[in-house]
Amino acid sequence: MTEGGKRPLLDVEEPVNEINKLLNERLPLYKRADTSVDTNYITPEETAQEIIERLALDLRRVRVELGERSYCILIGSKVLRRLGLRIKTFRPSRVAGVSNNTVFPLYRDTILRSLREYNIVPHIILLPDGEEYKDHLWTYYIQGELLKARFDRSSLLIALGGGVIGDITGFAASTYMRGIRYVQVPTTLLSQVDSSVGGKTGVNHPLGKNMIGTFYQPSLVAIDVDTLRSLPKREFYAGMAEVIKYGVIADSGFFDCLQKNIKDILSLGDGLIRVIKRSCEVKAEVVSKDEKESGLRAILNFGHTIGHAVETVTGYTELLHGEAVAMGMCAAADLAVRMGILHRDESGRIRELIEMYHLPSRIPAELQVQDMINAMEIDKKTEAGKIKFILPEAIGKVRIVEDVDRELIKEVLAENRK
Ligand code: NAD
Ligand code: GLY
Repeated sequence: MTEGGKRPLLDVEEPVNEINKLLNERLPLYKRADTSVDTNYITPEETAQEIIERLALDLRRVRVELGERSYCILIGSKVLRRLGLRIKTFRPSRVAGVSNNTVFPLYRDTILRSLREYNIVPHIILLPDGEEYKDHLWTYYIQGELLKARFDRSSLLIALGGGVIGDITGFAASTYMRGIRYVQVPTTLLSQVDSSVGGKTGVNHPLGKNMIGTFYQPSLVAIDVDTLRSLPKREFYAGMAEVIKYGVIADSGFFDCLQKNIKDILSLGDGLIRVIKRSCEVKAEVVSKDEKESGLRAILNFGHTIGHAVETVTGYTELLHGEAVAMGMCAAADLAVRMGILHRDESGRIRELIEMYHLPSRIPAELQVQDMINAMEIDKKTEAGKIKFILPEAIGKVRIVEDVDRELIKEVLAENRK
């Protein structure tokens, strides 16, 4: 009932039934909205302010549909400045921000100011910067901090950083008191288009990368594209490998757009928001259909079979993940040509685009083919000794091939070394 007036449609005996009926009728239209504001816990003034800002900020929204675990990905400029209101809508009892020593100093003032506006004073947990700290000891550290500060089951964590921070924070959230909520605020291109979306959380084990983890969806992903301005260029290019991946696996028009708009994208121009949005849409669609990777989700691993092998053999120190994936995508495309699945021209276009985005397309010559095969055999994607590949049939369409001939893989690896 609104203040100062009746709702004629609800002037019936069972208004709740009527509300549900109306909601069902209107839901298809609501789902088409470009943006939606949860008004449950904010005032009408705050709602109006939020709508105005979203329009002014050109905020884009993608939804990951997973029933009661559904959530929104918000993408735009100056998103960090409005984080406070979004966190408030979850009504957490306590909030902790998890970040690292590189990212937090860059965005501390913006985030703290925004949270303070909504009377949220977060407990800050800082980790050292690096993949080597994505392990159970630092998970334990985060959880210890939460216990010491008496965080309860209604608390919420904010992960501010790249994929390392997002993965470990999600993992800590999924296991703290059997699961508390967390919000992803990804600050690298790779984490914005890939790791923050889809709920894969986890840490490394001395015997294998990302071997310990959970599927645990965030409550929100808030992407502020402005954070990419402080990101080292090499990290940005590495994120572009995952973006190109989406074009190859699902959308040839998007692939063309990455080719045509390279100058704008590399200069972090206006088109970048659309590029991130389209990437998130592809990932959200796949995850919505296959959350726990029982089938379709494996297509997101295009380029990763060889990419992971290259990372394992080089000890995760020389190459960024996206760089290894770039090499893996080129080699997988060549494999598809050799198997008669893909036309040679298409494979050439993939390699060309990867190189245009300053990514390596060839595997370092010093890597031994047999070492890479060994690494593929112990990868968690390999089942019963069968090395699985995601292979393009054309740009925009891939197929999963369960058991690729080892001799052929060896030949393609040898040809792909520079
Ligand atoms: P990262 O988190 O290590 O970040 C890269 C570097 O950039 C770090 O030094 C970081 O401190 C710095 N940084 C982050 N944001 C910055 C900013 N805005 N300005 C300046 N510096 C900034 O690396 P990443 O590439 O974001 O993520 C890699 C991790 O993601 C790996 O651990 C990988 O396993 C994981 N991953 C997870 C998934 C998933 O689905 N969960 C998918 C892909 C990758
Ligand atoms: N990065 C692959 C996945 O999320 O499934």
